[in-house]
Amino acid sequence: MNILVTGGAGFIGANFVYYELKNHPEDRIVCLDKLTYAGNLQTLDDAMKCSNFRFVKGDIADRECVFKLFEEEHFDIVVNFAAESHVDRSVENPEIFLKTNILGTQTLMDACREYGIVRYHQVSTDEVYGDLPLDRPDLFFTEETPIHTSSPYSASKASADLLVLAYARTFKLPVSITRCSNNYGPYHFPEKLIPLMISRALADESLPVYGKGENVRDWLYVEDHCSAIDLVIRKGRVGEVYNIGGHNERTNLEVVKTILRLLNKPESLITYVTDRPGHDMRYAIDPTKIHTELGWLPETSFDEGIKRTIQWYLDNEDWWQNILKGDYQNYYERMYSNR
Ligand code: NAD
Ligand code: DAU
Repeated sequence: MNILVTGGAGFIGANFVYYELKNHPEDRIVCLDKLTYAGNLQTLDDAMKCSNFRFVKGDIADRECVFKLFEEEHFDIVVNFAAESHVDRSVENPEIFLKTNILGTQTLMDACREYGIVRYHQVSTDEVYGDLPLDRPDLFFTEETPIHTSSPYSASKASADLLVLAYARTFKLPVSITRCSNNYGPYHFPEKLIPLMISRALADESLPVYGKGENVRDWLYVEDHCSAIDLVIRKGRVGEVYNIGGHNERTNLEVVKTILRLLNKPESLITYVTDRPGHDMRYAIDPTKIHTELGWLPETSFDEGIKRTIQWYLDNEDWWQNILKGDYQNYYERMYSNR
């Protein structure tokens, strides 16, 4: 199989590239990535050494670039990870989210129609379902939960999902969609909660917790997300949506305190800052469908995954220090000063 992985220089896409190279050495992986602030070629250093891997720098919304690549490669499967992925940035400037996340998805699917593929897979998010109240722990997102978005980011991902389902019905494009909860693990960009808190705690800097820190996220170790997508693209039913999550709900405060405890740092580093506008309260996935249909189960508990993740950041300081040296400092200043 010749598989196009878009956004493979980002957090989950890169982990997926490595998952595929390890578990399906017979397949060829082509990564198309624009290398935005979130893309990092250093992450793909080891993949570059594999003869069945090719990296192409390009924008999924650039029709000429995408069509030329499809003409050259004749892909069997397309897995679309490429996206603007950070909610706070979407609040600051929604436009690029609409361009990449919606029009980029359309461009990729138009190329799939033109050149033919066996499967187009859209990597989506549980955020398309909106949020759940804190006082109803009995409620979970199922694939039937109505789309009900809160941020420009989640609205752009939901729009893309609707477009994917429309291409399936109207053009008979063989598609699938996965909607996953919050990931964590190696190569996670330090603007997101877990790597941000690890990198700042290691530098004895304050840890900015939004609001009261009581919002709940359902954390999944990134390799478990990769194994689920791998199953869906190979064995999942065409036209279907599959939720992915591991019943690992934690409040943000619990997550931050766990990181501080494991790093032996004081809780006095925690600083409560102004809340995110429109902040979703709770995400919680019901993964029954992917479990019963495809036998998927997560392998890594939160207790084990967070230890592994912290160890990875300790062992790979160069990787994240290089990011902190760049434009990141302006970003941090913009987002967190006067908050
Ligand atoms: P990320 O921000 O770490 O990486 C995104 C990658 O896409 C980067 O390499 C970037 O350079 C690339 N990219 C951005 N715009 C592009 C464009 N126009 N053309 C080509 N490449 C482009 O994101 P992530 O956290 O790895 O998320 C990957 C996907 O998974 C996204 O679609 C996101 O919505 C979805 N998702 C993420 C999570 C999570 O917890 N991080 C959970 C569920 C779903
Ligand atoms: O649920 C899946 C989604 O998870 C993905 O679709 C998104 O791409 C991904 O970024 C993530 O979205 P969140 O907004 O949940 O992740 P983030 O790491 O930005 O924030 C997690 C929680 O931590 C959220 O409640 C906000 C809070 N937070 C975040 C940051 C960056 C803080 O309290 N302080 C912070 O500095």
